[in-house]
Amino acid sequence: MTDHVKSLSPAQAAPGLDDVIAAETGLCLVDGAVGRLVLRGYDLHALADWSFEAVLALLWQGLTPAEMTEAEIRHALGTARCRLFAKAEALLPATDDLSPVEALRLLLSSLADAERMPHHILAVAAAPVFAAAIARRRAGQAPVAPDATLGHAADFLRMLRGDLPGAAHVRALDTYLVTVADHGLNASTFTARVIASTRAGLISSVVGGLCALKGPLHGGAPGPVLDMLDAIGSEADIRPWITAALARGARLMGFGHRIYRVRDPRADVLKGVVGSLRADGTRIAFAEQVEAEALAQLAEKKPLRPPETNVEFYTALVLEALGFPRDSFTNVFAVGRMAGWTAHVLEQEAQGRLIRPQSRYVGPMPGHASAAG
Ligand code: ACO
Repeated sequence: MTDHVKSLSPAQAAPGLDDVIAAETGLCLVDGAVGRLVLRGYDLHALADWSFEAVLALLWQGLTPAEMTEAEIRHALGTARCRLFAKAEALLPATDDLSPVEALRLLLSSLADAERMPHHILAVAAAPVFAAAIARRRAGQAPVAPDATLGHAADFLRMLRGDLPGAAHVRALDTYLVTVADHGLNASTFTARVIASTRAGLISSVVGGLCALKGPLHGGAPGPVLDMLDAIGSEADIRPWITAALARGARLMGFGHRIYRVRDPRADVLKGVVGSLRADGTRIAFAEQVEAEALAQLAEKKPLRPPETNVEFYTALVLEALGFPRDSFTNVFAVGRMAGWTAHVLEQEAQGRLIRPQSRYVGPMPGHASAAG
């Protein structure tokens, strides 16, 4: 590269933006060195028995024109879910050739910027209505209308299964939604903040967030965790299967994280949830054996920075035990992460600065370009 080009470009590129601080936030601290997750002054472990609505009230505090209590949010979401059902019914036939997450992307995109309901309520309410209707359509079942009197988690399960879920399942889903509600400047939240910074609006921002979440390196991992357990099949095959997968350079789904140098604290919360569900004991024991062997082999392969269990490993087991089809797991993740996306978008809009980093040009200068074709 010529000296002239060097002088035009910043000295150093950071391809994965590792260690780059791209925003100030009062919402969430992810301390990767010690495995700590704090939302607005509360440790994740302290929030694990809160309702999803209570965590929304915490995250939205001070960011919306009108402060809302947990009860007011629960009421507003119930009303909004009922209004959104007609839209789900009307658009479902257009989703038949799409995967569940693509279908959710389509339905969320149908929400209008001109909608007068506050957009953070609209987006959070829409996600479970759409996700449940999409899952049922794929199972050949008619969508179930929302019940405005229920909490968000209970109604989500009811719309999915068609009957009122038991308290243990509602509690488990609430804990799951709270556990994944926010997680710093992860790829989908960063995407949502970039879009928000252009003043494109909250709906466009969360649709962008969903598009980033969909990838297997981010929110697309939990379905493949179950695929991996199924592919391994038996106890005797655990070690050779993992050895062969790592030898061919495959990534073990549910392990590794950009920020955490230790175990993801969300994995432990969700492991507790799996236990509380008294799910299929054989399945859980098998998964734990796979986890132990994977951690041992990953530590051997990457001794300096061994990938640890991340949130997706136990997410897979929780959502399976709750009866969600595995191709819907990313959509269930989106239902929870909608909390973080909306809060970060509101925070970004209040901060007001367009996010516009630079790139380092490494191409040829005029006069040095090779002809195409
Ligand atoms: N299996 C095997 N090897 C792994 C894994 C894994 N799960 N994770 C990291 N590694 C290896 C990489 O191959 C790489 O090796 P190399 O240096 O020889 O190329 C090294 O560890 C570092 O990996 P990076 O990709 O640089 O680490 P990064 O911090 O970018 O990765 C990521 C984070 C993408 C999550 C990665 O660990 C991964 O692909 N995991 C599997 C997918 C997954 O579980 N995703 C969910 C993440 S949690 C969430 O987003 C909600």
